[in-house]
Amino acid sequence: MTTQANDDWWRDAVVYQVYPRSFADGDGDGTGDLQGVRGKLPYLRELGVDAIWLSPFYTSPLADGGYDVADYRDVDPRFGTLADFDAMASDAHALGIRVIVDLVPNHSSDLHVWFQQALAAAPGSPERERYMFRDGLGETGELPPNDWESIFGGRAWTRVPDGQWYLHLFAPEQPDLNWENPEVRTEFHGVLRFWLDRGVDGFRIDVAHGMIKAEGLPSVGRTSDDGGRQVEMLGSEPLPYFDQDGVHDIYREWRPILDEYPGGRMAVAEAWVDSPERLARYIGRDELHQAFNFDFMMAEFDAESFRTIIDKSLAEADLVGAPTTWVLSNHDKFRHVTRYGDGVIGLRRARAATLLMLSLPGSAYLYNGEELGLNEVLDLPDELREDPSFKRTGESRDGCRVPLPWGGTLEEGFRFNPDGQGTPWLPQPAKWESLTAQAQESDPESTLNFYRAALRLRRELPALGGGKVQWIDSPEGVLAFRRDPGVVVVTNIADRPVTLAELGLSGTPLLTSSPVPTPGTLPADTTLWLLG
Ligand code: BGC
Repeated sequence: MTTQANDDWWRDAVVYQVYPRSFADGDGDGTGDLQGVRGKLPYLRELGVDAIWLSPFYTSPLADGGYDVADYRDVDPRFGTLADFDAMASDAHALGIRVIVDLVPNHSSDLHVWFQQALAAAPGSPERERYMFRDGLGETGELPPNDWESIFGGRAWTRVPDGQWYLHLFAPEQPDLNWENPEVRTEFHGVLRFWLDRGVDGFRIDVAHGMIKAEGLPSVGRTSDDGGRQVEMLGSEPLPYFDQDGVHDIYREWRPILDEYPGGRMAVAEAWVDSPERLARYIGRDELHQAFNFDFMMAEFDAESFRTIIDKSLAEADLVGAPTTWVLSNHDKFRHVTRYGDGVIGLRRARAATLLMLSLPGSAYLYNGEELGLNEVLDLPDELREDPSFKRTGESRDGCRVPLPWGGTLEEGFRFNPDGQGTPWLPQPAKWESLTAQAQESDPESTLNFYRAALRLRRELPALGGGKVQWIDSPEGVLAFRRDPGVVVVTNIADRPVTLAELGLSGTPLLTSSPVPTPGTLPADTTLWLLG
C-alpha cells in the first residue's frame, strides 16, 4: 500500500485472485483448499500483494465451479471447514494481507435448501416466491415464459414436473433468486454480516448487474435462432435481465452494513453494463466502492488500443469518483500469455502488459498463476472439462483453472502434503515443469521474481498507485508517460527497438519486463520503468 489512509486501502491495492480449487492443495486429495491457501500465505506475502480475493469456497455441488452456492454460510468439505477459513484469515491479517470473498447473490445452487423446498412446494407458494417461477406460454404452458437465453447457451428457463418454469440466467443448476422478495434481501443482509463478523475485508459481487429483472419479464426480441446469441449484446446493448435501475436499491441497503464495520470494508462489482455512465451508478458513497474494468483485459496487444483504453478508463474513474481497477487475467478468460500469442512471444508480451498495468493509477487484480507466467491449457481432454458452458457452446474456461504447479517436479507439484495420494483435478501440462514456483525461485530473470520486483517497487515508489498519467509524445507503437514524482513508464509495442534518446528520455532504469541487451535501447514488446 502507498500513502492512502487505512480505510481507503483498496484504492491502489494489488489484489491476488485465488481460485481455491486450483491454487494449493493442503490435504493432498488433488483439489485445492483453504489449508492450502493458508500454507501459501508466506509466498503471497513475499510476492507482495495487499489482498487476496477468494473465488467461492462455499458448500456447493460445483456445477459451475462453486458459483452455485448451496449454503452461503459454510465451507464445502472439499475446501475445508469454517475453522480453516478463520485460521487462514487470521494468518493473512497477521501478515498484512486483506481478505475479500466472492458473494454470489443473483442465483443459488439448485441444491440450496430454498430451491429444494421450492420444488417440493406448489405454484404460488411462498417457497416458490424466493425464485423466479412462472407459468409457460402456449395452450398447455409448454413454451417458456419469454425468449431469454442463458449466458452459458440455450434458453434461460427449465420446466419442472408440475408445468411451471424457473429462470436461470446461467446453468439450470443455478436458479435465479427473486430479489423483489424482501425475504431474499434480509437473508443476504445476514450473509454479509456473517462474513463481516468473521473479519473479511470485502466482497467481490458476482453478476452485480443481475438480480433485478425488467417488470413483466419482456422478451428481448432476438435469439440465437435469428440475430445471434443474446450474450453478445452484454456490455453494449440493454437487456431486460441486466442492469435494471432497481438493482441500486439493493446496494443502497448493503452499504450501511459495510460501513458499520471498522477498517474499510469494501465491495467490488462485477458489472457488465453498456456505458461508463451506467457503470458509474454502481459506485459511490451510498453504493459499492469500485467496479471491475474489463476493457484492458479485452484489448488487443497494441499500443493504440492500450492508450485508448487507459484514457477512457481514467476518464471513467473521474466520472465515478473512484480509482479504476485493472485486470489482465481471471478465472473466466484465457490467460494473457496465450491471448498475446503463447510461447516465448506470449510470455514476453504478457510481462510487458503486466508492468504497464502495474504502473497505472488504481488497483490491480492478479489471477493466481500469472506470476508464474502460466499459459492457457488448450489441450485438456474434453471428458475432463467441467465448465457448464462447454457442453452447451463448446466454449470452456477450464484451461485457465488448471491447478498451479508448486513443487520442483509436477508429480509433487500441486499437493504439498508429501503423503497425499491425489493427483490434480485437472492435469498440468508437462511443460509446466520448468514453470513451477520452486523452479523459478532461484532464477533472477524468472517471471516470479519479475512480479516480486514490480510489486516491491510499486509499494516503495509513491508515484505508483494513485495519481495521474501524463503522456509523453512518442512514435507509433510506443506508449510513454510520466507518473509524478519521478517515474517514467515506456512500453514498446513497435516492431523495432526504440532508444531512450529518440524519446528524449534519460534516467536510471528501475525495472524492465524482459532483459535489455543494449543499455538505453528498449527492445520490442518490453516495458521499462525509469527513475527520471
Ligand atoms: C463468474 C463466473 C460464473 C458466473 C455465474 C461470473 O461472474 O465470474 O465464473 O460462471 O458469474 O455465477
